[in-house]
Amino acid sequence: MDEMELTIRGMVQEGKGILAADESLPTLAKRFSQFGIESTEETRRSYRSLLFSTPGIEHYISGIILFEETLTQRDDHGRLLPEMLSSRGIVPGIKVDRGAVPLAGSPGDKITEGLDGLSLRLRTYKMQGARFAKWREVYAITEKNPSWIAIDANAEMLARYAAVCQEEGIVPIVEPEVLIDGDHSMERCLDVTEIVLHAVFHALYRHGIILECMVLKPSMVLPGKAFFPRAAPEKVAESTVRVLKRTVPAAVPSINFLSGGQGPEEATVNLNAMNALFRNPPWALSFSYGRALQSKALEAWGGKSENSNKMQAVFLERAQLNGLARRGEYRPEMEGA
Ligand code: 13P
Repeated sequence: MDEMELTIRGMVQEGKGILAADESLPTLAKRFSQFGIESTEETRRSYRSLLFSTPGIEHYISGIILFEETLTQRDDHGRLLPEMLSSRGIVPGIKVDRGAVPLAGSPGDKITEGLDGLSLRLRTYKMQGARFAKWREVYAITEKNPSWIAIDANAEMLARYAAVCQEEGIVPIVEPEVLIDGDHSMERCLDVTEIVLHAVFHALYRHGIILECMVLKPSMVLPGKAFFPRAAPEKVAESTVRVLKRTVPAAVPSINFLSGGQGPEEATVNLNAMNALFRNPPWALSFSYGRALQSKALEAWGGKSENSNKMQAVFLERAQLNGLARRGEYRPEMEGA
């Protein structure tokens, strides 16, 4: 428990959040291809090494979730990336799930794989420097989804994963993502999120998870991507915090949202609204963004080394603005200033 408490102290800090840079090979290839960048071991190393070595991000980023390949890659000075991060006070973590597949017997629902051999893998990752892990379950919203089977099965997977992590002294990030795809209303998203989180915390309780030594990574309560009008940040903040208060025990130290298809500014403005409206929530309300932190930086880089400085400047700005949103001190006029 002592080592997990130390990890939590590193991960959960005022004005800081987590960068999700754990895109799988196909996902990163997709993100790269938008800007005509080929995905090779070297371009992935080069991109992530640049991103992580951005001067100053340690003031806003307390942890980075890595993909397996990255654990053994080196920066341009030959330093292993996890070591370089630790030396700057950024806690390295590792995505351990193996992705989602269709859930048999429950059309439209998915279940995440990767439990087999997990404890052995965690021991290796720990030797390579990882101190926390991430596992994502996804829930699509349709008229019929998620089914009760999916809600229970996914919660069970998250709890089993978290139990294995804690047994190995690794802090689990528990990520139940209610997907933004579809034209459902915000009320429907709120209902689904509440049911999902209830099931997840019930399963975590049954599996004896130490709530003080985990981080929750949920989606925000939002209308579906194809639903108009879009919701005001205050409404997103109010609905999201309402559901979290009903479902997440105060013993959980931090809630770090995923961006889940929100644009960079949208993700920042919504997080800021939560911290501005709710001054003393029982848990920290922070970020663990992938796309919302990286998309502008990736675009600025475009796979060209001459753009390295520009890319790092763009990334630092995004990290800083989200650091401010974590304190409820962000204002849209700060963009580009
Ligand atoms: P996004 O912020 O791009 O949704 O990614 C977060 C993440 O880690 C998904 O598993």
